[in-house]
Amino acid sequence: MRIDFITCLPELLYSFFNYSIVKRAQSKGILTINVHNLRDYANNKHKQVDDYAYGVGAGMVLKIEPIDSCVQNLKKEREYDEVIYMTPDGEKLDQKMANTLSLKKNIIILCGHYKGVDQRVRDSLITKEVSIGDYVLSGGELAGAVLVDSIGRLIPGVLSDETSALTDSFQDNLLAPPIYTRPREYKGMEVPEVLLSGNDAKIEEWRSELALQKTKKFRPDLLT
Ligand code: ADE
Repeated sequence: MRIDFITCLPELLYSFFNYSIVKRAQSKGILTINVHNLRDYANNKHKQVDDYAYGVGAGMVLKIEPIDSCVQNLKKEREYDEVIYMTPDGEKLDQKMANTLSLKKNIIILCGHYKGVDQRVRDSLITKEVSIGDYVLSGGELAGAVLVDSIGRLIPGVLSDETSALTDSFQDNLLAPPIYTRPREYKGMEVPEVLLSGNDAKIEEWRSELALQKTKKFRPDLLT
């Protein structure tokens, strides 16, 4: 899978992509991430990529020309399955969306800044708008990094069997059950007996029951 980021703050993304699961996916050759600095596509002396909004007072808006130029450049090289814009008014990211996107071949992710982008970018270039939650960040970079992390770990071959994404919360619309490691007892707190029983069927039954209880308590909306 190939992901092309378009941003005016590339430094914010580099450190993230050099660690974490995304780094592992890249070193295994399963994922390639390219970060494009929007300023490199500005066709003016001051490398300006934003401008004042028409008709309303405060707030800078990302201009269409550098974004269009960058996207067209990329599209000359290959076809893209999605051109995603990170924005708080987009479709809310969930595990289902991450699963779907993890099967794509080439994706562009545009990070917004300031007041957002010229609407004509959204109308003519963007195929999908994604939000990571009902709150406003100062830019789309962190949101884009969250999206890539959620996708990256699902690409076949990235996680080893023992950390398989299939046992994650949300994969079956349930929260993951509690999990324990050594010691068996700590300050009077014991690991549930069933987990030490070696009886796989019983353990599975316990895990399913606890996953259901936990989901009922903390996220009943997932069960409806
Ligand atoms: N940009 C700013 N806030 C955002 C959010 N909540 N989700 C995605 N992109 C954003």
